Amino acid sequence: MKIAFIGVGKLGFPCAVALAMKGHEVFCYDTNKKLMDGYKKGEVTPFEPGLDEQYASCKHLMHYCATVNDAVRASDAIYVAVPTPHAPSHDGSLPYDGVPRDFDNSIIESSLEEVGRAIKANKADGRYRTILVISTVTPGTMNNVLGPATERGAESKIGDGWTMVYNPFFIGQSTVVRDFLNPEFVLLGCPPPKKDMAINATTPADGGRGEEVARELYATLHNSPIRPMTWTEAECVKLCYNTYLGLKVLFANTVMEVCHRLPDADCDVVNATLKLATDRLVSPKYMDGGMADGGPCHGRDQMAMSYTAREVEVKFNIFDVINHGRDQQTAWLADQVMEHRTGRPVVLLGMAFKPNTNQTQGSPAILLANILRQRGIFPILHDPAIRPDAELPTGPALYFISTNWKQYKDFKFQPGDTVIDPWRMINPRSVAEGVELISLGVGKRHARRSAAEQQRMAG
Ligand SMILES: NC(=O)c1ccc[n+]([C@@H]2O[C@H](COP(=O)([O-])OP(=O)(O)OC[C@H]3O[C@@H](n4cnc5c(N)ncnc54)[C@H](O)[C@@H]3O)[C@@H](O)[C@H]2O)c1
Repeated sequence: MKIAFIGVGKLGFPCAVALAMKGHEVFCYDTNKKLMDGYKKGEVTPFEPGLDEQYASCKHLMHYCATVNDAVRASDAIYVAVPTPHAPSHDGSLPYDGVPRDFDNSIIESSLEEVGRAIKANKADGRYRTILVISTVTPGTMNNVLGPATERGAESKIGDGWTMVYNPFFIGQSTVVRDFLNPEFVLLGCPPPKKDMAINATTPADGGRGEEVARELYATLHNSPIRPMTWTEAECVKLCYNTYLGLKVLFANTVMEVCHRLPDADCDVVNATLKLATDRLVSPKYMDGGMADGGPCHGRDQMAMSYTAREVEVKFNIFDVINHGRDQQTAWLADQVMEHRTGRPVVLLGMAFKPNTNQTQGSPAILLANILRQRGIFPILHDPAIRPDAELPTGPALYFISTNWKQYKDFKFQPGDTVIDPWRMINPRSVAEGVELISLGVGKRHARRSAAEQQRMAG
């Protein structure tokens, strides 16, 4: 496949080399002419162990273009890896001022507009072009800024002979080539459906062509898992990945500080032992959105650790954040109940802190019930193991699935009921007509799906 690379800096250049090493011809463009002149002479600017030799092995497949148009003209796939800088106050080298800010998208926006113009200029050659955006952006940027900018430049819509995929990488400096060729997974953020596509509303505007091209390209590099999703989901994965790393480091450092202040503790003993917990701690468990953490141990232990941290005067008490977060997230669930109740009785389906137990101590379902009571709403509580015979309303009600007992998947909701499902365990296709299902965590995507479902049913 012929590939363009727009922006061949610390990330772009080693990736371009990796593609050439696999036999692809790569057409590079960068606004830094000095950098490109250096590459032409064989000078490898990005500091990466082994990159000199790797470049020397495939330099004959790398071309340096004078314009974006030259690079786009020659290519089927166009990677874009230009900077999306943060204000110097927000790159992590100065104390955070407490005001979150977006990246500066001006470079990537104008760069993609230019790529769009090049696509338009070369449209007559009939070549289908797929833009693969690598630069890091915040969720919503592809939808709101970069998609429109490229369409503006191309003077045509996505799917009209070209498309764009959000394809960020998880790559460490100093191991770019290795990470690019051996990824844990490949993210393919695909464009949203066309505005007039109501029936088949989950089909991307390019009819899946961008995903197809990217799959074909990556099949030449490795056989790592490919994860297709929406643009916005891919933007979320990219930033959540790095944020989760920050959370882990914050936790480990808190353990270090606590141990430093305790008279007889070594943080390496504590952290090294926690790392052995590969069943629950260092594992995919506890990574699904739903109710707050709970049970007879977790909540109280987290509160106790917060006490210890305060006693030894830890500078930043992350354990206290967990306690407040648990309350605030449950308060948000209570907001959902308030918003959708419209005068109907409220039923909490589930009291136990998890399925297959009758334990309610520290249960997030009971916390939700208590928050609702504080707001003047007295829910009916049902639970298959604790209160299976609870008297349920005969008329329309708001049901909230507070414990993910599998029995609730087949619960017979009646027309006029609203069901709030924080677990996404109820299949939208299985709910009876007239039942409103609110699956938390799927936002507008679900709304779009249900609109498509409704239209299909009506048709
Ligand atoms: N470096 C990494 O390991 C890494 C990893 C993942 C994501 N990213 C993201 O990738 C993007 C690029 O990062 P980087 O580290 O390679 O930055 P970089 O500054 O090293 O390289 C960017 C290159 O783009 C060039 N450029 C600037 N404006 C341009 C334009 N309009 N057209 C063409 N080229 C232009 C610059 O001259 C530079 O050579 C950023 O959004 C970054 O967050 C980087």
